[in-house]
Amino acid sequence: MKTVIVTGGAGFIGSAVVRQLVEETNLRVVNVDALTYAANLDSLGPARNSPRHVFEHVDVCDRDELERVFREHRPAAVLHLAAQTHVDRSIKDPGVFVASNVDGTLNVLEASRRHWERLDAEGRSGFRLLHVSTDEVYGDLGRDRPAMAEGAPYAPSSPYAASKAAADHLVRAWSRTFDLPVVIAVCCNNYGPCQHPEKLIPLVVLNAVEGKPLPLYGTGENVRDWLFVEDHARALRMLLEAGRPGQTYHVAAHEERTNLEVVTEICMLLDELAPREAGRHTELIRFVADRPGHDFRYDLDDSRMRDEIGWRPRETFRSGLRKTVRWYLDHPEWVQAVRNAEYRRWMAAQYQDGEAGG
Ligand code: TYD
Repeated sequence: MKTVIVTGGAGFIGSAVVRQLVEETNLRVVNVDALTYAANLDSLGPARNSPRHVFEHVDVCDRDELERVFREHRPAAVLHLAAQTHVDRSIKDPGVFVASNVDGTLNVLEASRRHWERLDAEGRSGFRLLHVSTDEVYGDLGRDRPAMAEGAPYAPSSPYAASKAAADHLVRAWSRTFDLPVVIAVCCNNYGPCQHPEKLIPLVVLNAVEGKPLPLYGTGENVRDWLFVEDHARALRMLLEAGRPGQTYHVAAHEERTNLEVVTEICMLLDELAPREAGRHTELIRFVADRPGHDFRYDLDDSRMRDEIGWRPRETFRSGLRKTVRWYLDHPEWVQAVRNAEYRRWMAAQYQDGEAGG
């Protein structure tokens, strides 16, 4: 039985990847996660207790422990998703982002390289390190600028995006210098079940249900392209099989929306699924101070992914958003667990009027 290591497998995207790998393949999955604030093993559902799922409570910043995991489990492939991902947190505390996303990636690269060099010829040629990155590394686009193709210059805006860009550069260097067989996946915004409610979509769903303000930064006109997390997880599995070593692949939904449109769609779904006693959910929308350096828009040209790999998303934004809103309504115990003291502190500090937070 082949083993794959998934770093960050208790996070939002990582847990979707682990669930799919356990449920839909025969692979043995070693889940390496530090269990920081945004991770939750409950997100794994029944996959958590599968005999083909092994949890290693290890931080990618801990080089020795990471090396031990590689020696013990001898992976045929590695999916590297462990990262700090919230732009607003990176503005408040950039150092944590450099540690997890840059130093952590260096450790994953070095552990992978040492392991790969010890493999026989067949193991070496089959080995893959799939590194998961973000459209934010390219910086933002104006309203009508054409989509970014693979190979476009990097111009990150936030400390988060800069840390991911640095990580991508390291991964490329390990491919070029050491011939390590890496594949880089660059994705647009994800949404879906089990996303931490500091991010726009779950934050708005949960605040709206409780009649709290729905904070939109600036004018709400910033644009994001939204991909359902299960579609991203499937794209990663397909890249693991068919991605060419040394290549970068863009993964996009082509479901661009302004933030105001996203929040309005959530409000309309909630008017249907969980109506307020009086009034409509859109009445809760509040325009608040903009995020410093707020990227206006991202857009990825993903024709390589679609033409070469044959991937297509299954969900539209409409169908995926309905599933997502329903999931949050149906899982109060999951929500309760993540809205802990740390979460309340973050919300109070970030949304200082105190109303939207807490
Ligand atoms: P987010 O979910 O943080 O993802 P990212 O910044 O990585 O794209 O935010 C998505 C968009 O929503 C982004 O343009 C910022 C905006 N936003 C708000 O308007 N209000 C909020 O409270 C949050 C968290 C985000």
